[in-house]
Amino acid sequence: MTDLDRKQDRAPVPKDWTYAPAPESRDIVRLRERYGHFIGGEWVEPAETYETISPATEESLALIGEGTEEEVDAAVAAARDAFANGWSALPGSERAKYLFRIARILQERSREFAVLESLNGGKPIKESRDVDLPLAAAHFFYYAGWADKLEYAFPNRRPKPVGVAGQIIPWNFPLLMLAWKIAPALACGNTVVLKPAETTPLTALLFCDVLRQAELPPGVVNIVTGDGRTGAAIVDHPGVDKIAFTGSTEVGKAIQRRLAGTGKKLTLELGGKAANIVFDDCALDQAVEGIVNGIYFNQGHVCCAGSRLFAQESIYEPLVDKLKRRLETLRVGDPLDKNTDVGAINSKMQLERIVELVEAGKDEGAEIYQPPCRLPERGYWFVPTVFTNVAQSYRIAQEEIFGPVLSVLTFRTPEEAVEKANNTPYGLSAGVWTEKGSRILWMAQRLRAGVVWANTFNRFDPTSPFGGYKESGFGREGGLHGLEPYLRFDE
Ligand code: NAI
Ligand code: MG
Repeated sequence: MTDLDRKQDRAPVPKDWTYAPAPESRDIVRLRERYGHFIGGEWVEPAETYETISPATEESLALIGEGTEEEVDAAVAAARDAFANGWSALPGSERAKYLFRIARILQERSREFAVLESLNGGKPIKESRDVDLPLAAAHFFYYAGWADKLEYAFPNRRPKPVGVAGQIIPWNFPLLMLAWKIAPALACGNTVVLKPAETTPLTALLFCDVLRQAELPPGVVNIVTGDGRTGAAIVDHPGVDKIAFTGSTEVGKAIQRRLAGTGKKLTLELGGKAANIVFDDCALDQAVEGIVNGIYFNQGHVCCAGSRLFAQESIYEPLVDKLKRRLETLRVGDPLDKNTDVGAINSKMQLERIVELVEAGKDEGAEIYQPPCRLPERGYWFVPTVFTNVAQSYRIAQEEIFGPVLSVLTFRTPEEAVEKANNTPYGLSAGVWTEKGSRILWMAQRLRAGVVWANTFNRFDPTSPFGGYKESGFGREGGLHGLEPYLRFDE
């Protein structure tokens, strides 16, 4: 008998390495049957409602207010009142106390928020727990620190708050986008009317509890729910001084047109079609992990997703082989299972958009690869997908798919990589994989993208500004840069 056989005698090697189900309990979340708008520190009964669901099961979760023009008007009035009667005159050190409190309460209640985020939005619990929640709290901590130091951030420029900020956010990072918007606005002394996306309102509504717990003065933050019509009412309201929008390029352009000539300040964080560029000298296994994280994180519902992979021709084959093998190990399914890597597609509408673009990719002649994968019967799902043989002109190489779909293209020289990477109307982010530091700097200088990651992807930090070039929008969120859109310097 050999040593190995004997060892197997004692401890049999399992044949099946799949994980047992490890669902996170839903009990920590207490849903109400219906939710109103949060205006002036009170819940206001909505005139109209709609249902919000779980995209993983299509079960109805609660009734949500469909904000009308009158309701938006009441929210803006409450925000104006809070701005004029106390909040904007409060010393920065006092505003900071509220922001620190909010940050700490988010940390304390992070499990509750993470479960609710996954339930309402479909993202894997390990992402909402380990990414969305810690980053949302970090944003409040970070901007709390700036609240009493604005004169040092902008020396000799006399920074003043803008007034009432209207903020419209998307469904891919519901609580995190709320934090990106609200934290800098309050740090600078503004008040807020925020509208979460229609498919994912629940964490924003739970956040109203946090505001009460933190004893934030009534009217400083108002949350109005509803769809694009509610958003448009915020954009058009004459009492709003600044609009901050994150969402589609189409709606962003429409907002910019409507605001032309009104004097309202505007920041837009829109779509992307990021290049993830892999050179032949890189650490290949790490690059594969970075590619997977770049496009399958959050089902690819990420504006800065690395949706175009550029592989140097000399490593194209081993890279694509490794990538396909890695895809087979991704676990798609129940967002509340702690072992899930890829959760549910956020909505039926988004699933239809993904399907349409994938069909276009096949029709145009790209080669599709999808690993064997059993999808749940109910809910909205899409198998992680890789397209090879992609030409730059194909729709799947040009348009934002916003789903777990990667297009692989190739290049030979760094110059060619830059030219192809920049061949897009977008410019939000990019990734470079190489062992050569000088090449990273050379590339970063030439890539027309707001963020360039080197040997990593999808890394966020509140101290680092984030935002786009070209059709990805303008203005920066995060860091010292993120204060500027919420300040005026005119007196
Ligand atoms: P969208 O841009 O319509 O929605 C984003 C937010 O804007 C939501 O809160 C929505 O209610 C609001 N909104 C819609 N129309 C509005 C209007 N006329 N005025 C004011 N607010 C309005 O995005 P949608 O339809 O959910 O997704 C379509 C595509 O947009 C996606 O497939 C994706 O490509 C892209 N997208 C990009 C995001 C990003 O983070 N850059 C986020 C969400 C979507
Ligand atoms: Mg839309």
